[in-house]
Amino acid sequence: MLIAVMLGIGGGILGWAIGHHGRGTRTVTVAAAGGAGPTAAGAPVDPHVAAGAHIFVQFACAQCHGVQGRGGISPDVPALTGVGKALTPVRLRFIIDHGLGESKNPTRPYMPVWGEVISSRQVGDLIAYLRAGLPAVPTADPPVIPQRQGAAVEGSVLYVAYGCIDCHGPNGLGGVPNPLSPDKSIPPLAGKAFRQQFDTDAKIIDVIRSGSVIGRAPIVSMPHWGGIIPQSRLDALVAYLKTLRAAPNPNG
Ligand code: HEC
Ligand code: HEC
Repeated sequence: MLIAVMLGIGGGILGWAIGHHGRGTRTVTVAAAGGAGPTAAGAPVDPHVAAGAHIFVQFACAQCHGVQGRGGISPDVPALTGVGKALTPVRLRFIIDHGLGESKNPTRPYMPVWGEVISSRQVGDLIAYLRAGLPAVPTADPPVIPQRQGAAVEGSVLYVAYGCIDCHGPNGLGGVPNPLSPDKSIPPLAGKAFRQQFDTDAKIIDVIRSGSVIGRAPIVSMPHWGGIIPQSRLDALVAYLKTLRAAPNPNG
């Protein structure tokens, strides 16, 4: 079990690193994502489709849209099984980059803005996967959530599984660019300023549930996770966030 946990976290961090540094490095993306592999039925999968299946898991698409985009998570989140035929690649790219259904006051889940977070090449692979009909690809599975090791351990893997790590960085250290937002980057979830502003569990859970719309795309906002992340998992995420410490200042 411990090994599964470590792999889960390692895979998430790797995924994060690829998301941020993978622009233009096709080979790295495919190799790290597991490369091409046979489908469950044994037919070979196009490498873009295989990479797309892994990216679909890494960026939590599966957590909202369901395994292989089959839906069933929340009535507010559609299945994606028909979009590859219904929508053009240009439209799919626009939706992934810019999000969909945001409002100034989100009261239900909306499609997050991913343009600043997922590389253009990875979006290309996601589109290939959607257009191929979201086939099963070996090892493109969400990390196993550890049980009976305490809430903080569970939360650390949920932090990867729900893609928090993609936007808030490993260990909540922040620094992911969000150039048009007032802060210029997605905020850290560790450190003094965060702890002062979010000094109760209720305040942290509230922002995870409701999200926040800080501007129109391409500004990245905090997704609305209400109705998607169950209460016990919200508690575990908070237990994990409370273990985080900011990196020591390299200048002193
Ligand atoms: C926080 C939940 C959430 C996550 C994570 C998420 N989506 Fe969505 N997505 C939504 C919601 C909600 C909608 C419907 C928006 C609307 O129509 O108002 C949507 C809509 C879409 C659509 C348009 C579907 C249609 O029929 O018009 C596509 C395509 C899509 N998402 C792809 C993705 C991909 C690819 C990812 C991962 C990079 C992803 N989504 C991650 C919530 C999410
Ligand atoms: C698509 C990127 C994205 C994802 C995924 C994401 N967040 Fe956020 N989150 C943001 C942005 C942007 C903000 C800043 C919102 C603002 O300033 O109003 C934020 C704010 C927050 C805050 C409040 C911190 C502050 O200083 O405002 C918390 C707590 C938080 N997120 C937790 C999480 C957790 C837990 C997850 C995973 C379940 C998660 N986030 C997933 C983008 C994201």
